[in-house]
Amino acid sequence: MTRVLILNGPNLNLLGTRQPEVYGTTTLSDIETMCREHAPVAEITFVQSNHEGALIDAIHAAKTAQDGIILNAGAYTHTSVALHDAIASVELPCVEVHLSNIHAREPFRHHSYIAPVAVGQIAGFGAQSYLLALDALLAHVKGSK
Ligand code: DQA
Repeated sequence: MTRVLILNGPNLNLLGTRQPEVYGTTTLSDIETMCREHAPVAEITFVQSNHEGALIDAIHAAKTAQDGIILNAGAYTHTSVALHDAIASVELPCVEVHLSNIHAREPFRHHSYIAPVAVGQIAGFGAQSYLLALDALLAHVKGSK
């Protein structure tokens, strides 16, 4: 079984009620259920934190426990060199994911510190982005074995 950490950053615990016109009405718990149903072949660990250090700790812990990471770093995507370094350090394949199309939004969202250390980025498909990211990561891990 491929082991996947799906890691969610700040404010994503508010999905469902947070700016539904941007992020939709699906909750993070709904997304977790969708991911588990979509990829029963994967062993999924689903985590959310509003704290940068906790996200970094989760990435470090993944090094020996996971085969890959799906990361929605929320606003830390656009600010965090520390998350960039953490992903680079653990040498696990990482797929960057966003519900919204960050490239079609405010200019400050166009730059991602995660993108240079990710296998690829999926953005703009709402909750579906997570399922596309899972497909992409599982295919990538399978292809590299
Ligand atoms: C987000 C996009 C980020 O710009 C924003 O700060 C978020 C959510 C997304 O999933 O669309 O918190 O990562």
